[in-house]
Amino acid sequence: MASLPSLPVLGEQHFRQLQQLMRDASGIHLASNKRSLVAGRLLKRLRHFELDSYDDYLSRLTHPQYARERRLVVDLLTTNETYFFREYAHFEFLGQWLSGRGGPLRLWSAACSSGEEPYSLAMTAAEHTRGNEWSVLGSDLSQSMLGIAEQGIYDMAQARYFPEGWLHRHCLCGVDDMAGRLRVQAWLRNKVQFREINVVQPLPDKLGQFDVIFLRNLLIYFDSAQKQHIVRNLADKLRPGGLLFIGHAESIHGFNLPLRPVRPSVFERL
Ligand SMILES: C[S@@+](CC[C@H](N)C(=O)[O-])C[C@H]1O[C@@H](n2cnc3c(N)ncnc32)[C@H](O)[C@@H]1O
Repeated sequence: MASLPSLPVLGEQHFRQLQQLMRDASGIHLASNKRSLVAGRLLKRLRHFELDSYDDYLSRLTHPQYARERRLVVDLLTTNETYFFREYAHFEFLGQWLSGRGGPLRLWSAACSSGEEPYSLAMTAAEHTRGNEWSVLGSDLSQSMLGIAEQGIYDMAQARYFPEGWLHRHCLCGVDDMAGRLRVQAWLRNKVQFREINVVQPLPDKLGQFDVIFLRNLLIYFDSAQKQHIVRNLADKLRPGGLLFIGHAESIHGFNLPLRPVRPSVFERL
């Protein structure tokens, strides 16, 4: 009986090369217990190039003409999970806060993945800003995620936490070959601008100041020093009195930052 072909093995040295690639590109540290997960995620790239070993794949990655492939590796090894109105209590609080503010208001979803978070911000602003001018910036490290975000087309399953009535007020629901999908309405999409920003690196000049920054479900991937560095940079972009939201599972406790807690995982710029 013929034996099954064995899977290529991702050795220690090659895993270290990938750890370095991730650290350089995103600042994220891949823990050593992630080795088999990493091997599994990259296996399809070996198949794509019809390669038998990670050795061949990693030597390709070092060549300048494989810059796109290196980006793809970072995408494959990053968690992009997101959905509309994730951690709903944040949007309830933000709605109340926005209704008491004058405009114009600028909101930023840093690490926005495929765009559900900035569109949730846009819908909350549309419902609560009472005629004030507002705009939303969505940014991420991943160009492929930003490409999806710009389209604004999603599976209905992503819409499970929409407040009552908002889906039909702010989105078009697909029919025929678009059945089961939704598209954020054009006027709302036009209020949201997307751009590539790596929050570990110096932030772009002329980014301006924001009233609200969402930095959620990203800090968990960084060590304490990097977390502090990222949050300090972003806090610098908040107007005094503006709000920073982090994920409910994240903490910036003990950092010396110009922020005061106002709710669990919500901070006001001093
Ligand atoms: C788990 S998603 C969070 C999405 C959204 N904020 C939410 O809470 O639903 C994390 C995102 O962070 C992005 N990311 C990873 N490293 C980054 C970096 N250094 N700068 C900007 N974005 C980064 C990933 O591409 C991914 O889309």
